Amino acid sequence: MTRKLFIKTYGCQMNAYDSARIADVMAPHGYSLVDDAAGADMVVLNTCHIREKAAEKVYSELGRLRRAKEEKAANGERMLIAVAGCVAQAEGEEMIVRAPLVDIVVGPQVYHRLPEMVAKLSRGEGRALDTEFPAMDKFDALPGTKTAPGPTAFLTVQEGCDKFCTFCVVPYTRGAEYSRSVAQIEAEARHVADLGVKELTLLGQNVNAYHGIGPDGEPWGLGRLIRRLAKIDEIARLRYTTSHPRDMSDELIDAHAHEPKLMPYLHLPVQSGSDRVLEAMNRGHTAEDYKRLVERIRRARPDIALSSDFIVGFPGETDEDFEATMALIRDVGYAQAFSFKYSPRPGTPAAVARKQIADNVKEDRLAGLQDLLRRQADTFAAACVGREMDVLFEHRGRYADQLVGRSPYLQPVHARAPERLLGRLARVRLVEAKSNSMAGELADMAVAL
Ligand code: 5AD
Ligand code: SF4
Repeated sequence: MTRKLFIKTYGCQMNAYDSARIADVMAPHGYSLVDDAAGADMVVLNTCHIREKAAEKVYSELGRLRRAKEEKAANGERMLIAVAGCVAQAEGEEMIVRAPLVDIVVGPQVYHRLPEMVAKLSRGEGRALDTEFPAMDKFDALPGTKTAPGPTAFLTVQEGCDKFCTFCVVPYTRGAEYSRSVAQIEAEARHVADLGVKELTLLGQNVNAYHGIGPDGEPWGLGRLIRRLAKIDEIARLRYTTSHPRDMSDELIDAHAHEPKLMPYLHLPVQSGSDRVLEAMNRGHTAEDYKRLVERIRRARPDIALSSDFIVGFPGETDEDFEATMALIRDVGYAQAFSFKYSPRPGTPAAVARKQIADNVKEDRLAGLQDLLRRQADTFAAACVGREMDVLFEHRGRYADQLVGRSPYLQPVHARAPERLLGRLARVRLVEAKSNSMAGELADMAVAL
């Protein structure tokens, strides 16, 4: 009997990866994915805790699911509702108490146990809660994916974080840092390569802190792992995210210099350009350290494009601190970036700091910062016009004969191209910068025919 499984994913790419694996875990039990909660036999909310009022948003989403669950019940059927991810981890028991609608609360480290939890429920053993950080590796328990993920795929290589930035919940929700073994990652990479994947994005909350056990029994760094994965012929492109400036090792920078499959694009969050704020954030580096690091990376790979995360209005941030962030942005020059108003997360040190910044001040600073970042993004896009780049075509475009893919810089590029180029790399000349994408033309007309 097939059952309908609906998964709603919030937040980061790690959650996107986890959602795919949740589908893999449930597939052998007859669950196949649908894209609507209405009528589903099981709904999983794979939640994220990083944004403001994350838990409240999940409770309101649950409120909206009540009707669907009731309709199902009116037909004598059951809709199982599971909350997974970081809000599940953070709320735990509280969610069982507060949301009677929820059947299962499962943390990010134990979702491989979902089938067991579902089985218990159907035996009438009551609602299930599991937010452990078990010693046993969930990755050992996960089945290989059966469905072709398309030309690009995520692969989690590292989880958790020991950095304890004072604004961040990740060390609490995802736990201590853990790296998968090289052998396990390589096996998964080869498996998805066989299914047609051409581009792998290696994921981790602190991915460049990777230190998994290599085939020689020694811990390997991310640079070495990347070089190993680059040997898989079918894999044409490698990326990784998210990195911490303190973990950019020489080996990793060297991989950028010498491994052509490693894409010239790096998301390297700095958060602030003020040393005082960086210190209060417990980032473990200064603005100068970061700028020197960027210089070294650019020497290794001159055409690399950088991206970052910024927080404005961190407790105690003065106009001068904010100006230091603007100055850093001007100095470094970003192709792309994410920026946020600081918002307190319960349980983190910064949440109880005195000198919280007024919201209107945060708004003003964010607007100024985003304006600067937008101009830099536009400049970067304009500089790409006229250049030829490899584009990996991922899906059909809005118009007939059109395919959409990504440039090495992660820019969406659309071009007129024959269907058979879907899932393949082609040389494309970028002809126009649109607001969030690039228009291109196949460079080699022979390929176009
Ligand atoms: N307030 C605002 N932004 C935050 N981030 C993490 N925690 C907070 C917070 N409390 C941002 C950081 C991080 C990104 C994923 O989210 O910039 O790099
Ligand atoms: Fe959070 Fe990243 Fe800092 Fe870890 S390094 S605490 S994940 S912001």
